[in-house]
Amino acid sequence: MANIIILLSVLPLSVIFFCITYLRARSSQQRKAVLDSLSLPPSTKVFAFFHPYCNAGGGGERVLWTAIAYIQRTHPHLLCVVYTGDTLATKSSILEKVQSRFSITLSPATLHFVFLKRRILVEDSTYPHFTLIGQSLGSVGLAIEALSLFVPDAYIDTMGYAFTLPLVRLLGIPAGAYVHYPTVSPPMISRVARKAKLVYYHAFMLLYALALRRARVLMVNSSWTKKHVDAVLAYPPFGGRWGIVRPRVVYPSCDTREMERLTLEGRERIVLSIAQFRPEKDHAKQVRALHALLQAHPEYATQGLQLVMIGGCRNADDEARVEVLRDLARDLGVEAQVQFVLNAPYPDMLAWLGRASVGLNTMLDEHFGINVVEFMAAGVIPIAHASGGPPRGHRRRVPGSAHRCGYHAKTPEEFASRIHDALTLSPEEDLAIRQRARTWAVQRFSEAEFEAAWEASGWSQLIL
Ligand SMILES: *[C@@H]1O[C@H](CO)[C@@H](O)[C@H](O)[C@H]1NC(C)=O
Repeated sequence: MANIIILLSVLPLSVIFFCITYLRARSSQQRKAVLDSLSLPPSTKVFAFFHPYCNAGGGGERVLWTAIAYIQRTHPHLLCVVYTGDTLATKSSILEKVQSRFSITLSPATLHFVFLKRRILVEDSTYPHFTLIGQSLGSVGLAIEALSLFVPDAYIDTMGYAFTLPLVRLLGIPAGAYVHYPTVSPPMISRVARKAKLVYYHAFMLLYALALRRARVLMVNSSWTKKHVDAVLAYPPFGGRWGIVRPRVVYPSCDTREMERLTLEGRERIVLSIAQFRPEKDHAKQVRALHALLQAHPEYATQGLQLVMIGGCRNADDEARVEVLRDLARDLGVEAQVQFVLNAPYPDMLAWLGRASVGLNTMLDEHFGINVVEFMAAGVIPIAHASGGPPRGHRRRVPGSAHRCGYHAKTPEEFASRIHDALTLSPEEDLAIRQRARTWAVQRFSEAEFEAAWEASGWSQLIL
């Protein structure tokens, strides 16, 4: 009996041990091939980013590319590797898109892409039920593929796949994470009503907390995300025990240099929305807000007011969502006032930012979207979703009208009346708000600020 027990416990360990040994042996050949192809010396250290949707062109991708550009500039002897599932893209097409979408120039000499074939493992459509756990296990599968293709010296997950961290650490690789949005958090749980689901969520959060604790360096994209990640890390039964890494806020950068140049005057009656066509962004609310606005003030229609929705469409699901939105606009009779601009190149987006008066963000629990920062830097007056209280990011900055940088709203009707407020400001007030918003955004979200915070996060401990 005892023999069986010992065997049962030793067997998995030895399997893991052999897998690791095998991977290590294979990895040196793979590494040599990659370094040779780039004519880099064999001693080159490799820092890997796990970002399966690196070609999506969203806010998360800007963080990725800004970080890589920074590392390339300050540590020219490191090789950056990106694990991505964009198998239809090539290295040069990705670099071109980074240039045109973000105007970030990357050096091909110290950048390498590892293309993953099994990205379907992390797509939400793969798991109609138990999506959270499905995607999380799927991400481990995808990370296994990644590591079987290339073993780096340090690893960072920049897309929220925390469950890959334990696996990476198992191979003895230092790991970190940049968290844009907690996979699950206590407030999400408090919205869950059914008992069985509650158990599922709590179990999941326990696992999530365990996984996140494997990160040696932990960055979060806002104070809002920090609050929630802190709560996850302190999730009972851990409390504050064990010396764990504290998450640090590293605000993403926004291209404030270009946006600052846009003129503040002579803005058109354009209400702008910038968000990927994902369900949580709640584009439908924007169409409904427009409808409510036109109901209350039909004169806007004759004045040619437009709701322009700019957004990335990653796949068929996103396209289907756009179709649903078109239908909604038609049903509400506002289709003449709605314009969709899909996968716009960067200069086009900038041009819209230079023309619009007002910008909308309807995402629940986002609190402080990077699109809001872009609006502000560009001098577009933001109207953001106020999910339960004022956004921490600008609490002190927008208490009254004297310091107002934008507005909050919740329901379509509230959004409509805030749009009306913003469009009927006196010229002096209008200019003052735009100027204040710009100053605030530029100070905090410049590339230099991002780089300083990234450096202070201690990322280099992972590799140097
Ligand atoms: C943080 O990331 C989330 C998820 O992508 C995003 O919705 C939000 O806009 C980001 N916040 C900031 C300040 O970039």
